[in-house]
Amino acid sequence: MTIDGLRVLVTGGCGFIGSHITQSLSNKGAQVIAFDNFSSGYRENLEGLSGDVRIIQGDIMDYRKLSRACKGLDVISHQAAQLEITKALADPITDLKVNTEGTLNVFRAAVENGIRKIIYASSAGVYGEARTLPQTEEHPTDPNWPYGVSKLAGEKYADIYSKYYGIEISCLRYGIVYGPREWYGRVLTLFLRRALEGKPPVLWGGDQIRDFIFVTDVVDFHNRLLEESDRAVGVFNVGSGQGTTIRNLAELVVETYHLEEPKYEDTGEGEMSKEVKGRKRLPLELKRMVLDNSKAKKLGWRPEVSLIEGIKKEYAWLQNNVHRWKELRY
Ligand SMILES: NC(=O)c1ccc[n+]([C@@H]2O[C@H](COP(=O)([O-])OP(=O)(O)OC[C@H]3O[C@@H](n4cnc5c(N)ncnc54)[C@H](O)[C@@H]3O)[C@@H](O)[C@H]2O)c1
Repeated sequence: MTIDGLRVLVTGGCGFIGSHITQSLSNKGAQVIAFDNFSSGYRENLEGLSGDVRIIQGDIMDYRKLSRACKGLDVISHQAAQLEITKALADPITDLKVNTEGTLNVFRAAVENGIRKIIYASSAGVYGEARTLPQTEEHPTDPNWPYGVSKLAGEKYADIYSKYYGIEISCLRYGIVYGPREWYGRVLTLFLRRALEGKPPVLWGGDQIRDFIFVTDVVDFHNRLLEESDRAVGVFNVGSGQGTTIRNLAELVVETYHLEEPKYEDTGEGEMSKEVKGRKRLPLELKRMVLDNSKAKKLGWRPEVSLIEGIKKEYAWLQNNVHRWKELRY
């Protein structure tokens, strides 16, 4: 497949990752429909694009509208989701519906419209606590949060739809994706928001290990799957392959923005922070997540953006978009 001229619908196309996908596909000559209900997406994420991009305001729970929007298309990139961990814990039914029923609607719409290729945004959250590092795609799936269960259900349906209907579905287990247009609430965003005010990062522990992957590296892999369609079916980790402790991340931010040493706060899991107003430390927090990306690399992909470069790009975006990081989502 070549991307030039491809007709693609991106669910969640006005969100953080979806907007980067839409932008990149459009720059490569695809005709793109961003299908989004604006629960967390922004029209301004797609402002200034010169290519063939159309926005449809719609909900993946509205099967008829979704299926009509898919008419005559070649590919669906499914990025829309309910992804707030605390919301999923408080209201697992909505999480289940949006992420599982909504994903099934996407697969059904593909069948109805004869679409042969889908890329599905899954999550490293399907693994739960790491038993071995780095985690390969064969690592047991034992999610610690409802969100991981609903994402895993999407993968299982993907497998059935691939086999039964012959649709090529690639499931991308993203690590911690970061970069411009990220939503405010996760650890790096908390550090950067404070850095902008000259305040040091606040640490709850700091030994937690995460795999940070810059958003354009995710998009590059996504696009490669479209171009390499015959080798692209199944589940893929999309991470840097590097584990970073949250303490190291904080130190990097301190060094780059000349801040005081990180502040340690004695906040237990599920407890409210005193320093970071309105933010709880997540319950059932993962200790370690590092993704083995060798399967993705076999397709010729490599993450290109180093953590420090990526942090600087996100910070530069934040300086012009502080209005976007007023409300916490997590
Ligand atoms: N950001 C990460 O680190 C990360 C990690 C793992 C997986 N993911 C997955 O990547 C995808 C994109 O996440 P993101 O970080 O860009 O989040 P985001 O919130 O910025 O994007 C989600 C988009 O989907 C839209 N949306 C939500 N529910 C919808 C619905 N019912 N119908 C139509 N549109 C809807 C939102 O308005 C938003 O534009 C999600 O599927 C998420 O689960 C993200």
